[in-house]
Amino acid sequence: MREKFMIKIAHRGVSAQAPENTRAAFEKMLPLDITWLETDIDITSDGQLVLIHDASVNRTSNGNGKVNRNTLQGLQKLDFGEWFSPVYQGQQIVTLDWLIDFINLHQLNVNFELKTDVQGEQQNFYLMRIHKAFLRLNPNCQIIVSSFNVPLLKKFHALMPKVATGLLVDGPITDSHLEQAQAVDAAYIHPDVSFLTQEQARILMNKGFKLNVWTVNDPKTMARLNEWGINAAFTDFPAGVTV
Ligand code: G3P
Ligand code: MG
Repeated sequence: MREKFMIKIAHRGVSAQAPENTRAAFEKMLPLDITWLETDIDITSDGQLVLIHDASVNRTSNGNGKVNRNTLQGLQKLDFGEWFSPVYQGQQIVTLDWLIDFINLHQLNVNFELKTDVQGEQQNFYLMRIHKAFLRLNPNCQIIVSSFNVPLLKKFHALMPKVATGLLVDGPITDSHLEQAQAVDAAYIHPDVSFLTQEQARILMNKGFKLNVWTVNDPKTMARLNEWGINAAFTDFPAGVTV
């Protein structure tokens, strides 16, 4: 049995128990012995950074339309909790600024996922706003910035080279992913649990990458990954899955 336990990262907050990426989902972490969370950053039409997984608000709110076509004030009028349960009616979209205050107050660590499809000048603005926001993080807060979007992650790395980066991989890991990981100077690779084999994990770790695997909601898989020496697992059930 491995002595050092894998880190559990609350995926979109404690998203099994509260609506993802809401204050309620982040606040659910506090009574747990969980110090890492994952969240997704997008930008509104008026240049405000907000935490939401999908490019549109359709699935997780009572509204419709793309995040980057709405102002923050418009998005704040929507309900982001009721789709999950009536108990969470009234949850609003969360800003990155709010989360940074929360992280600083509770001494949490974060994996920020760059999740936007804005391009060109708007994309540069998105990265500049993130840069500015990160300056407010406590110096002892550990962060990893990850993305499936390699050109975007590369631009982020050029802007903030001291921040650890993670390459998100959707599907089997190939040699071209390794080249991409090297191009963004990634300390971490974030593989999809459905495709990762023990042999592949071993090869990647021997190359010096730390592995943070998504999304692990089953205790047996959690225990297996722990035995493999994986660094961390993203989970919707940080309280409920035990190693
Ligand atoms: O960062 C881990 C995981 O969140 C990546 O996939 O689609 O849930 O953002 P997704
Ligand atoms: Mg994510």
